[in-house]
Amino acid sequence: MNVRTLTPLDRLLAGLERALETVAGQPEAARPSPARDLAEAELDAAERRHAAGLMRVNHTGEVCAQALYDGQAALARDEATREHLRHAAGEETDHLAWCAERLKELDSRPSLLNPLWYAGSYAIGAAAALAGDPVSLGFVVETERQVEAHLAEHLERLPAQDARSRAVLARMQADEVRHADEAKARGGVDLPFPIPALMRLSSLVMKTVAYRL
Ligand SMILES: [Fe+2]
Ligand SMILES: [Fe+2]
Repeated sequence: MNVRTLTPLDRLLAGLERALETVAGQPEAARPSPARDLAEAELDAAERRHAAGLMRVNHTGEVCAQALYDGQAALARDEATREHLRHAAGEETDHLAWCAERLKELDSRPSLLNPLWYAGSYAIGAAAALAGDPVSLGFVVETERQVEAHLAEHLERLPAQDARSRAVLARMQADEVRHADEAKARGGVDLPFPIPALMRLSSLVMKTVAYRL
């Protein structure tokens, strides 16, 4: 069926399926993990726990990215914007799968609260879309730039020898830079104060909780 002929109910059902796949399924990456050819590092128990905590935060961040993009795509005004959002969301699926794989390698698991993060992020994405495509794309620009800065911080905080986690985050960071640039090029506008600050605050809450839970 052509995407253009989907009814709102079709879209709703497809969205629910993607939500379930994100929080309870095993999303598959289209690209191989950047960690693929790297040797596993020697990590003591504390380092392993710390790396797992950071990767759990990044996994949850990617759950949020799926939900944001999906909420935004569902209510995008323009078909080209919707297609663009869906394409970027596909790359976020790679990030999600790579983080899930790395978490497993570190003998850990995703955040128990992922369904909650997904629901909240979907609502925020939908609200951004309701403000119109230029604001919605501006929201992508701001989100991706904040994620890029956050990933730089995690690259500092990961155990130095954990090359596999580092490779995943470095590739994600490069993708997020491109996502921000593309959304800007498509007409994303700067978000007014205090929205960027509120976004930073809500991601700080998520990061603090997901590190542990
Ligand atoms: Fe991502
Ligand atoms: Fe991204």
